[in-house]
Amino acid sequence: MAKTVLRKTMLGGMGLQVKVLLSTEDIASRVRELGQEISKDYGDKDLVVVGILKGAVVFMSDLIREIMVPLEIDFMATSSYGQSTKSSGVVQLLKDLDTVIEGRDVLVVEDIIDSGLTLSYLSQLLLSRKPASVKTAVLLDKPDRRQTQFVPDYVGFSIPDEFVIGYGLDFNHKFRELPYIGVVRE
Ligand code: IMP
Ligand code: MG
Repeated sequence: MAKTVLRKTMLGGMGLQVKVLLSTEDIASRVRELGQEISKDYGDKDLVVVGILKGAVVFMSDLIREIMVPLEIDFMATSSYGQSTKSSGVVQLLKDLDTVIEGRDVLVVEDIIDSGLTLSYLSQLLLSRKPASVKTAVLLDKPDRRQTQFVPDYVGFSIPDEFVIGYGLDFNHKFRELPYIGVVRE
């Protein structure tokens, strides 16, 4: 309870209004469903789950505990939006994998697909390393903002074109720790 009040005060103090879009419970039950679907699809595969830093860490840590298949994890990082809520349109690789993925089944885990530039860039890069397969799981999809043909394989929720925070997603590097997903109004 005290935590909730503290968070509200913090958001208000920064002049931000936040409306809850997806509650902790909404997210948990959908993540469980995704985990079950992925477990079925990867039953006999050599699965490497690749999280895209930093936004995917919360989703990924919950998702892998719902996947009932042996797996390894690794991370990549790309350039972010910086101080803005709009994409620059340029994707830059900041951190590469430690793992060799040749012949293995790669599942890229991302917090949100927006323009699709990040995931189409990363998928192409990973495919060039000759894995057995590359699929993508995103918690959130903003289909209205797509600038590429990219279609993710697993989608948690389709959401309207509004800037969201929490459950790993940030605004100006803050609010990743919120246990729900909220819409920001400045
Ligand atoms: P894309 O390359 O345009 O698909 O952008 C994907 C990245 O943009 C995500 O990994 C997020 O880091 C960021 N992003 C897009 N929309 C939002 C949002 O509503 N809140 C926070 N980050 C976002
Ligand atoms: Mg991101």
